[in-house]
Amino acid sequence: MAEKTAGFERVAIIGLGLIGGSLASAIRQGRLARTVVGYDQKQADLALGLEMGVIDEAAESIAAAVRGAELVVIAVPVRATAKVLREVRSGLEPYALLTDVGSTKASFVDAVKDVFGETPVSVIPGHPIAGSEKSGVTAANPELFSGHKVILTPPETVDPVHLGKLRSLWQGCGATVLTMSVAHHDEVLAATSHLPHLIAFSLVDTLAGEDENLEIFRYAAGGFRDFTRIAASDPVMWHDIFLSNQQAVLRVIDHFTEDLGQLRAAIADQDGATLLRVFSRAKAARDHFSKMLSGQAYVTTTSQKQITFRLQSGDRVSGDIRVPGDKSISHRSIMLGALADGVTEVAGFLEGEDSLATLQAFRDMGVTIEGPDNGHVRIHGVGIDGLQAPRGPLYLGNSGTAMRLFCGLLAAQKFDSRLTGDASLSKRPMGRVADPLRTMGATIETANGGRPPLVIEGGCTLKGIHYDMPVASAQVKSCLLLAGLYAEGTTFVTEPAPTRDHTERMLAGFGYDVRREGATASVTGGGRLTATAIDVPADISSAAFFLVAASIAPDSDLTLRHVGMNPTRVGVINILRLMGANIEVLDEREVGGEPVADLRVRSANLKGIRIPMDDVPLAIDEFPVLFIAATCAEGTTVLQGAEELRVKESDRIQVMADGLAQLGVKTEVTEDGIIIVGRQAISGGKVDSQGDHRIAMAFAVASLVATGEIEVTDCANVATSFPGFVELAQSVGIQIATEEEEQ
Ligand code: S3P
Repeated sequence: MAEKTAGFERVAIIGLGLIGGSLASAIRQGRLARTVVGYDQKQADLALGLEMGVIDEAAESIAAAVRGAELVVIAVPVRATAKVLREVRSGLEPYALLTDVGSTKASFVDAVKDVFGETPVSVIPGHPIAGSEKSGVTAANPELFSGHKVILTPPETVDPVHLGKLRSLWQGCGATVLTMSVAHHDEVLAATSHLPHLIAFSLVDTLAGEDENLEIFRYAAGGFRDFTRIAASDPVMWHDIFLSNQQAVLRVIDHFTEDLGQLRAAIADQDGATLLRVFSRAKAARDHFSKMLSGQAYVTTTSQKQITFRLQSGDRVSGDIRVPGDKSISHRSIMLGALADGVTEVAGFLEGEDSLATLQAFRDMGVTIEGPDNGHVRIHGVGIDGLQAPRGPLYLGNSGTAMRLFCGLLAAQKFDSRLTGDASLSKRPMGRVADPLRTMGATIETANGGRPPLVIEGGCTLKGIHYDMPVASAQVKSCLLLAGLYAEGTTFVTEPAPTRDHTERMLAGFGYDVRREGATASVTGGGRLTATAIDVPADISSAAFFLVAASIAPDSDLTLRHVGMNPTRVGVINILRLMGANIEVLDEREVGGEPVADLRVRSANLKGIRIPMDDVPLAIDEFPVLFIAATCAEGTTVLQGAEELRVKESDRIQVMADGLAQLGVKTEVTEDGIIIVGRQAISGGKVDSQGDHRIAMAFAVASLVATGEIEVTDCANVATSFPGFVELAQSVGIQIATEEEEQ
């Protein structure tokens, strides 16, 4: 045995089945205890355990096994626990820590109370979420827990030293340790483990009992095999689990029975819409299972990874490209399509994490949405009052737009809802929407400082108000207009400066009467939306990276197709042109209520400017890359009136200034902007994007003119707005490579 041991001198494992045997061998392999002593009521298994090297010592009785042990692990079927504990009691040392590995925790705690009464004993119930349909000591596998989770359910009075030692033991076996309450554990496991086992046992039994059972099993192909693998699990163990976790299991069985009944009824009634809705929601959930489990954006696998951009200097930028669909319009297409009467077809939908989070949230509220499939989405609208209560919180990932617009929409629903987001979204101010909505009659709770998560009470009656927005924000305006669809009377929103008007345009496209007088937009509640077709233009905010890239890299000539040219979004073109950029606007046309054009951009000698304040809200998302343009320009660029940049996905003024400083570029940060003296050399270096997609892409553009390699870290969120950025950037001449690391 090991010279040095981590943690424990002597560990006793009672029960050398699959889990007990695997734990014993993992402890031995990892040298996590000096001696592992085992006991099993089956003498042959005990002898085998010793012979196979699963344990160091075989004990003749439970009392003998636990004598002198600092840690005692009960690894027997849960219904045998009380009997085993009675024997443990006679040999248990006063200093010993007692744990178990059973699938139900309340039953273990009850058994300990029964056996030990008031006698103090240190107990930390445990449950490794690992297993296999195999059983017995011969299946013992020291790697069984590696990469798996172990749940510990310590009492509030737990000794932190004990908890620390048990945690290290499981970590030493390769597991990740979580802690939760006994009751929560039993509820969660009833749904995620116990119910699936019950269904598998039941299905196999049903089919085995059919007259044609042989025929059925002969032809049962992969699906049946995959689905029923767990029906070969140990019947004794499972019979114990169901009897021990009775209440929680009954609750999920009832829920499942009800849902199965609904599917049965849908089939009986030829109700394809219900089947499609349930199946597409389930498919999306299954496809994004791992993300859901880790509480991350639900929709792709990228943000689970750490992505680093590695960039070499480039020369010219050229090509003919189309960037992905507009994020703002994509969000709104799903929202209004869901609330409309009829089927809305969307083309050019942005398949980025932000807009996909919106799509998923509507699926969670009972809307059938087909796709996205190459930018095509078909939304089966449920009508203005047709949303259903989601079963859990709506997780909106990184998306401020989704959270703020949802807030308005949900404030007027019959049901309660809860909105959550990732770490960046959880820091963003929501008071700006919650406050005016409260004035309309909504009940919304925010966390400290008006931050997410948001809890929105259903059943409130909203009244139209006239709101003078203190900040120029399209999200706030859109939130209130959406709430206004449900409010009594008319909701007026006045903006201090023009902001993007996609909500107003799209509402009109869905046949809703939206009025505009000067700086005030208004809607009157009580109308309906009629489904329509939407063609989402390419996102000018994504095109902006390439407008700057082709402007600063010498000899460049790049064409960007089908770019959205809504006058409330073209600030970046106005600013770049003022700086001397060579941007031609070609083939201007209107597509589904939004102006669109092709843009040809060629290299230019940019000049520093004082950025007109009027253009600030019209270019609000484009400043990170505009700062790169300013660094390359001749003369000084001054930005003022842009304090909003500090509450985007990151503090974009500070994070850009910090990143530029890493590359040897000096800037002067002001409260509401920045001053950049141009023609500074950009050196190589390492930049932290702070998980902000637009910062990461801005520095990718900077690499074109850098004198050395630039490394940009924390870039996974580029997928929120610009899936395929790296490939597209490579195709036009940006020397970008990515490195990925699982988190
Ligand atoms: C957006 C509005 C802007 C913008 C965001 C998208 C929208 O936010 O920055 O990326 O779709 O309405 P603010 O309204 O906070 O300025």
